[in-house]
Amino acid sequence: MAQLWGGRFTKETDRNVYLFNASIEFDKRLYKEDITGSMAHAKMLEKQKIITTEERDAILKGLEGILTDVESGALEITDQYEDIHSFVEANLISRIGDAGKKLHTGRSRNDQVALDMKLYVREQIGEIDSLLLQFQKILYRIMEENLDTYMPGFTHLQKAQPVTLAHHMSAYFEMFVRDRSRLSDISVRMNTCPLGAGALAGTTYPLDRECTASLLEFIEPTRNSMDSVSDRDYVIELLSALSTIMMHLSRFSEEVILWNSNEYGFIEIDDAYSTGSSIMPQKKNPDIAELVRGKTGRVYGSLMSMLTTMKGIPLAYNKDMQEDKEGTFDAIDTVKECLMMFMQMIDTMKFKKDVMAQSAVNGFTNATDAADYLVKRGMPFRDAHEVIGRLVLACIEKHKSIDEMTLSELKEISDTFDEDIYEAVSLETCVQKRLTTGAPGVEAMKKTLATYKSYLNENIS
Ligand code: ARG
Repeated sequence: MAQLWGGRFTKETDRNVYLFNASIEFDKRLYKEDITGSMAHAKMLEKQKIITTEERDAILKGLEGILTDVESGALEITDQYEDIHSFVEANLISRIGDAGKKLHTGRSRNDQVALDMKLYVREQIGEIDSLLLQFQKILYRIMEENLDTYMPGFTHLQKAQPVTLAHHMSAYFEMFVRDRSRLSDISVRMNTCPLGAGALAGTTYPLDRECTASLLEFIEPTRNSMDSVSDRDYVIELLSALSTIMMHLSRFSEEVILWNSNEYGFIEIDDAYSTGSSIMPQKKNPDIAELVRGKTGRVYGSLMSMLTTMKGIPLAYNKDMQEDKEGTFDAIDTVKECLMMFMQMIDTMKFKKDVMAQSAVNGFTNATDAADYLVKRGMPFRDAHEVIGRLVLACIEKHKSIDEMTLSELKEISDTFDEDIYEAVSLETCVQKRLTTGAPGVEAMKKTLATYKSYLNENIS
């Protein structure tokens, strides 16, 4: 047990207490951030003449060596250390001796861990954002290829009005636009550097906090030292944004599961992205989609647990806050894995265009257009709604769709109907005449795609 404290104690920590208290098992993933923060701190200490140039150089060389050895596997991070900060410091001291003992001047593990976590979250936000961008590019390709792939649009899971596959995919594209903008808002808001806040009340050493902030590419140092070490808002905001991403992925998953069912049969999931049954040879299961839907729960769980952990903590740092890590790491890993798996499944999926179009023609998805036809011939919409309601009832009795009714059958319902009704309620007309901004008609969708194209070009990373 290598600990950073001990002077005040006369007895060793109980082994189980040590293990209960330790965070090395999960904060070891912050080794790079811890070393990066320490390097910036050492540079600033030298600039402020708190340590000598030789001491700084020794520290930087020692830290670089630790980083290289951890990455090559030559140096293992073991539970001999309480946390990643103790691990790095103890290794530094054993490599460079006394100069290593000066690194912690004007610093506390409280501002150190706040910094490490911010650096980590900031980097992960970038990675999740580029996964979302990659997914949007796949959706864009599907949209371009399916501007006139007709399918039913649903409300209450009942066929409502026909749309296109491009239009349907565009709805998810929009969700991911908002998800990405949430991530970017968070990365701006959280981009202040807590280093130099010390344990809670700053320090008497003449630290240059602006210097460390700029070395670490933060906009500026945090303004209040107590807030600096006890703020985990950005973790909560991230978990909330991740929960929303999972909620979107989960809805998408639900649709893939439905579309893959025998009843819908809209899609064929690629063999590489589906699984079979150990007993039923005919099965091809949408396991990826089901797992993504299922994993949504654990990301929501991390958000709830962090909100609950933080709610009763008096200022400033308290050990409760060590609980920020496991849930956040798990949520980040889960979202990244789900995004990767899900987008590959979507990218390789085949859409059965005929089945989709066939499904769009039955189920009276053109009933609204039939009512609009009567309105265009002078009938008030409320009356037209009533007439078409009666028409649908008659169709159900005759087991026919609206366009299968003969003109005389239609005229029995209302003599406003004429030959041109068939054109007016055809699948093509129903979709193509919908040209308002954001609507599924090809010309409207082309405009939407043009805005996506410039959005994606601006976002080439
Ligand atoms: N492992 C701790 C954490 O994750 C590091 C900070 C410890 N500070 C302290 N005063 N015990 O929050």
